[in-house]
Amino acid sequence: MKSIAIDGPAGAGKSTIAKRVAKELDFIYVDTGAMYRAMALYFLRQGIKAEEEDKISEACGDIQVSLAYENGEQQVLLNGENVNAFIRTEEVSMMTSDTSKYPKVREKLLDLQRNLAKAQNVIMDGRDIGTCVLPGADLKVYLTASSAERARRRYKEQVERGISCDLQQIEEDIIARDEQDMNREIAPLKKAEDAVVIDASDMTVEEVVAEMISLYQNT
Ligand code: DC
Repeated sequence: MKSIAIDGPAGAGKSTIAKRVAKELDFIYVDTGAMYRAMALYFLRQGIKAEEEDKISEACGDIQVSLAYENGEQQVLLNGENVNAFIRTEEVSMMTSDTSKYPKVREKLLDLQRNLAKAQNVIMDGRDIGTCVLPGADLKVYLTASSAERARRRYKEQVERGISCDLQQIEEDIIARDEQDMNREIAPLKKAEDAVVIDASDMTVEEVVAEMISLYQNT
C-alpha cells in the first residue's frame, strides 16, 4: 500500500490540500485531527476538564472512534454517532490540543490510524504522521504558512460559515495551540527528518497540490 503523510501547524491548509491530492491520486484521505476532536467532544460532553488526566484516561475506555465516508467526505463516528457537525468549534479545537497530549488518548488512535494505512492507499494529515504513525510513508510533507496567513484563512472560513469571530483572537488561539502541540512530550508536532517542507504562505491551493503530486510522482 502507498501512503503520504502531511503534518504541520493548525490552519496551514493540510485538509484542503490532502483532499485534493487524494482525489487526484485516488487515495483515501484520513483526517486524524478529526479523530482527536471526536474524543475531545466526548470529554467536554462528560463535563471532564482538560487537566483531569485520570478521568480522561478512564473515559478513553468508553469511547469508540470510527470513520465512514459519505460522497468521499470523511465522517467521524463517536460511539456510532456522526459528530462531524460538532467538532469544528474553537472550544473543541482547544480541548483537542489540551487532551491529545495524554498517552491514553494517543494510544487509543494510533493502531486505528496505522490499520487504515495497511488496508488502502492513504494520504493522512495530522501532527505526528511522518514522525510516528507512518514512519515509512512514501512521501512526507511538512506544510506550513505564517501564523498571520493561517489566521486570515481560518477567519474567512468561519465568516463563510456564518460564525462571527475576531481575527486577532483566532491568531492568538492558533499560536497557543501550535505552542502546545510542538512542546508536548509524546508525539509532538515536528518535521520528520525526511519530510519536504512546503511553505504555503504565498502559494495558491492549486500550486501546493501540483507540487505535492509532482513530489509523489518522483518518489
Ligand atoms: O488538525 P486539527 O486542527 O483538526 O487538529 C486538532 C488538534 O488535534 C491539534 O491541535 C493537535 C491534535 N492532533 C494531534 O495531536 N495529532 C494528530 N495527528 C492530529 C491532531
